[in-house]
Amino acid sequence: MTQTVLSIQHLQKHFGKFQALSDITFDVNAGEVFGFIGPNGAGKSTTIRVLLGILKASGGQATIFNQDVWSQAVSIHNRIAYVPGDVYLWPNLTGGEMIDFLLKLNHQKHTAKTDALIKEFELDPKKKSRTYSKGNRQKVALIAAFSTEADFYIFDEPTSGLDPLMEEIFQKHVLALKENGKSVLLSSHILSEVERMCDRIGIIKAGKIVETGTLDEMRQLTRTQITVATQQPLDAVAQLAGVHGFTPDATTANKATFAVDTAQVGAVMSQLADYQIVTLQSTPPTLEDLFMRYYNAEGEGDSHEA
Ligand SMILES: Nc1ncnc2c1ncn2[C@@H]1O[C@H](COP(=O)(O)OP(=O)(O)OP(=O)(O)O)[C@@H](O)[C@H]1O
Ligand SMILES: [Mg+2]
Repeated sequence: MTQTVLSIQHLQKHFGKFQALSDITFDVNAGEVFGFIGPNGAGKSTTIRVLLGILKASGGQATIFNQDVWSQAVSIHNRIAYVPGDVYLWPNLTGGEMIDFLLKLNHQKHTAKTDALIKEFELDPKKKSRTYSKGNRQKVALIAAFSTEADFYIFDEPTSGLDPLMEEIFQKHVLALKENGKSVLLSSHILSEVERMCDRIGIIKAGKIVETGTLDEMRQLTRTQITVATQQPLDAVAQLAGVHGFTPDATTANKATFAVDTAQVGAVMSQLADYQIVTLQSTPPTLEDLFMRYYNAEGEGDSHEA
């Protein structure tokens, strides 16, 4: 009975001859936080600009609330909130005026919640926007977005300028949105943030989605690092399916370090149990490991531009 808030199918976008997006396909379900990650220049912001109706797609389809993102953008915009990575503010307006202006654009009112957010994010709303640091500009856009009643929140690297304390507050409010049944698309380079908050993740590379799934599903695709000591010799483990880089300990007998395809961990563990485990340390892959795997794999077609 999952309801789809955002549906993207084979989305393409080229700028002249340059193909920025060649095949973007993923869905965001109602009530979930979806993490959108990928290296610089992969196409995250371009995808989001297409979703917002700022750019027109060159091919494929994208709908939000079952409405076409280009032809029905106006109706969609009544139900979404958006925070870009590089927040542009009008220099002569104060932060407070800017927040009210952003709210007005979204047909929203300044409420007690807005005041609470200003306090929580420790923004001085009386200062002119031109005096704000990058972090403060981001706070302005975040405060406006979090005090907007929307169904779908789109954040494009919203926390790159925030200090760790503010990052915490951001995460708290995203989780509160989720608790209230809202849906969130979050593009981020802060993998711990994605790991902590996102129900599902999409990895984009060079204009293509290379993987989508829950973190657990993605972990299945990679290897768990194991260091184990047993009472009986364990050399035979090196021959088991899914075991890689078996390295016996140089000083102690019956101790080794190796990697196991996550899908094979169960089988390897039961084999190890037969050798009588003395100590065992297992490290599951982090999102960072996963990201690096895709980042480094399949070098062809990469444009490592500055
Ligand atoms: N208006 C444009 N004209 C030409 N090329 C563009 C335009 N906008 C983006 N691009 C190119 O499209 C590619 C994708 O850019 P995009 O900004 O979507 O990446 P990103 O994933 O958001 O990266 P980052 O993590 O650095 O924000 C890049 O190679 C970029 O140079
Ligand atoms: Mg970007």
